[in-house]
Amino acid sequence: MSKIENIKLKLDQFVIENNEHLENFRLQFLSKKAELQELLGEIKNVAPELRKDFGQQVNQLKQYAQQLFDDYKAKLESQISYNQSDVDVFRPATGITVGSMHPVTIVMNKVCDIFEKLGFEPVSGPDIEDDWHVFSALNFAPEHPARDMQDTFFVEVNPEMLLRTHTSSIQVRTMEQNQPPIRVICPGRVFRNETITARSHCIFHQVEGLYIAENVTFADLKQVLLYFAKEMFGEETKIRLRPSYFPFTEPSAEMDIECKICGGAGCNVCKHSGWLEIMGCGMVDPNVLDNCGIDSKKYSGYAFGIGIERMTMLKYKTNDIRLYFENDIRFIQQFTAASK
Ligand code: PHE
Repeated sequence: MSKIENIKLKLDQFVIENNEHLENFRLQFLSKKAELQELLGEIKNVAPELRKDFGQQVNQLKQYAQQLFDDYKAKLESQISYNQSDVDVFRPATGITVGSMHPVTIVMNKVCDIFEKLGFEPVSGPDIEDDWHVFSALNFAPEHPARDMQDTFFVEVNPEMLLRTHTSSIQVRTMEQNQPPIRVICPGRVFRNETITARSHCIFHQVEGLYIAENVTFADLKQVLLYFAKEMFGEETKIRLRPSYFPFTEPSAEMDIECKICGGAGCNVCKHSGWLEIMGCGMVDPNVLDNCGIDSKKYSGYAFGIGIERMTMLKYKTNDIRLYFENDIRFIQQFTAASK
């Protein structure tokens, strides 16, 4: 038995790094003259009551030695094939470049996160829409200028179809398919036939929001927007609501935040007013509710629409919207770290 122990120890300590070592291992443990072989021969001399146990252990040891031999052999062979092939395993690898989040995506996610915390559910809809979902259901008069070729991209093969000019179309689809309470945000890409300049582009992104329930008032809207502004731009942020007009809300307003760049004192960015416009909002016009199958006598609601590029420019203090569409990696890479 002590011989078995002894051989096991030697097996475990044997170092095999090349073919010569491997051959020595074979001679020492697996050849006809190996100690182990002798032990096999001795099984018959062992006292009968111990023979079975002894025989088992010697055989296990032999299997173990064979297994070690096979493993080392396979390992050496795989190394050999590497060394002999044309592959230069020591050549430095080409670096892996990791992408980064687009600044517009970062801000859009942040806006959605804030509203999701308040219970708004994100919903999406098609980029290519019909007149009903973009204009008619939203109370745009048939001759409203926004329908004009000047503002809207129509689909050439089917002029009934157009690229949505706002994500309010998703709100229409949501109202058509659900009854209140409705609390959704609609992030997405929108298209307007505008000249591309430092401040405007023909493609941009919006997050619009809609809340409909019983007894919703303008005060609810104002509180939600104030909360949003503070979460987005910091606790000290001040907001201002100015009367405005949209066909689908009544009353309507535009929301400004105090200019972050000059702290309200007046600068180029805020055109010396101390305020920056960041979204349109208002109480959903009862006509819109009725158009979408919601009882306007029972329910009321508010809606808002945020331009994401605008907000991204403010947040990161960039002055040219076109940078967001050129996708120059040197520009885009700057924002992932900055947003943390
Ligand atoms: N849909 C409007 C736009 O794109 C924004 C808006 C949404 C205004 C909801 C009021 C209420 O300009």
